Amino acid sequence: MKGPVGVFDSGYGGLTILDKVRSCLPEYDYLYLGDNARSPYGNRSFETVYEFTLQAVRWLFEQGCPLIILACNTASAKALRTIQQHDLPDLAPDRRVLGVIRPTVENVGRISISGHVGILGTEGTVNSGSYPIEIHKLFPETTVVSEACPLWVPLVENNEHDKEGADYFVRQHINNILKKDPQIDTLILACTHYPLLEAKIRKYLPEGVNLIAQGALVAESLKDYLHRHPEIDGRCSKNSVCRFYTTDSAEKFNSLASLFLKGEVQAEKIVLGK
Ligand code: DGL
Repeated sequence: MKGPVGVFDSGYGGLTILDKVRSCLPEYDYLYLGDNARSPYGNRSFETVYEFTLQAVRWLFEQGCPLIILACNTASAKALRTIQQHDLPDLAPDRRVLGVIRPTVENVGRISISGHVGILGTEGTVNSGSYPIEIHKLFPETTVVSEACPLWVPLVENNEHDKEGADYFVRQHINNILKKDPQIDTLILACTHYPLLEAKIRKYLPEGVNLIAQGALVAESLKDYLHRHPEIDGRCSKNSVCRFYTTDSAEKFNSLASLFLKGEVQAEKIVLGK
């Protein structure tokens, strides 16, 4: 039986990824799940993020998804590997769970000329060390510094990201990371919410520093993956249908989703972990 591609995030941020994926692969069906009731994941422990993410993966498999994208850096950093290696062989050996970190770092070598790269992410993503680890696997000579920006997600979720007050918090973290390594020529927005702050971030960046948002890279990588894995691609349904689910209020999700995604959203509430 065929099914939709599952897209999971702790809340709204994954919609920035879904938006690009849908533009790149419009014929596929998608099922988006935001765990808004328990978001943010960014400052939660490994065990908790793993447990919550596994519950979401199980639910998406129950809905018939042959492939799931963890469109959340924190979940990709803290839960993906364990789910792939430990859970998937028993849970659904013929299905796949992919993350957003690998598709992002694959492009670092092409984009950075100085070989000095900065990572902006949640505390969880930064403390996991996943980005430096993955970058060094592919580009061992690269210098990587990271900066956790714990207030950026709440700024976006409260629709304050393009207000004046946000400037203070954006400038502070950009200055911090550039102080850590003034040779940085590439900054990765390693959190799904940060593309909404892109204009403000650019305002405080010296000219010539590249800013990498993940959505388009994840979309291209997924297209390539489906091309290389016809056995998975053949099990994806293709009627251009996209459904949305949240673990919190559907009304709130519908109204805030438009910040992250083009078009109207009609979400349904579900319960995870019962
Ligand atoms: N979606 C998360 C990420 O990309 C940010 C929000 C959260 O902390 O849950 O890391």
